[in-house]
Amino acid sequence: MISIKSEREIELMRYAGHINYLAHEELKKHIKPGTTTEQLDKIAYDFIIKHECVPSCLGYEGFPKSICVSINDEVVHGIPGKRKIKNGDIVSIDFCVRYKGYESDSARTYIIGNVNPEVEALVENTKKALQIGLSKVKSGVKIGDISHAIEEFAHKKGLSVVEDLVGHGIGTNMHEEPDVPNFGKEGTGIVLKPGMTLSIEPMLTLGRKEVCLTDQDDWVIVTEDESLAAHFEHTVLVTEEGYEILTGE
Ligand code: MF3
Ligand code: CO
Repeated sequence: MISIKSEREIELMRYAGHINYLAHEELKKHIKPGTTTEQLDKIAYDFIIKHECVPSCLGYEGFPKSICVSINDEVVHGIPGKRKIKNGDIVSIDFCVRYKGYESDSARTYIIGNVNPEVEALVENTKKALQIGLSKVKSGVKIGDISHAIEEFAHKKGLSVVEDLVGHGIGTNMHEEPDVPNFGKEGTGIVLKPGMTLSIEPMLTLGRKEVCLTDQDDWVIVTEDESLAAHFEHTVLVTEEGYEILTGE
């Protein structure tokens, strides 16, 4: 069942999304060489709690921290720890914020210092892929229209689309129906209706699309060929005319 949110529920998701956005903005100030990923985790935890929200990744299916920090060939679900950010890294930050039972989910990838133009293009084009996916969203459109637009753009830019991880509906649960794949055919899948809320999240790589777990833990997902990966995500509300980003400015 795909839930249609009431105006009251949307209001709660707006607040959760706004705090998610502001927490990303706070983190941005600290994402630089020498900062450890657990320092970032603490900053996010404190910020989210201070704003009367819950860092809902913490404890989700046993995830041990409040945010996911995934560096270079890590695609998602990196666990904050002693690792220091360094010049030349690309760092993806992904987390959920809950307010009065309602979730928001957003991710960004940062370039640290100097990287080659190919890496810059990976990050820029993953961000654009999200914008292109978002631009398709409106009442009456099908999920496959979003998926196809993201895939077509990624391939045009010579990037691979991770297929093992997908975007999702969101609401009282972090992951709800429907799946929102970053690949697929136009005109397929469920029809979007006003009041649906989705997390759209392209994950693109410079190499091949295959990903796997490491033997370090049960969480971090890396590219099999160790190529770099980028990830951008917003939570959006479907409206009659288009969409409203809930995790934006
Ligand atoms: N945005 C991530 C996702 O959709 C959030 C994961 S929280 C975690 O999978 F607890 F699983 F890390
Ligand atoms: Co998500």
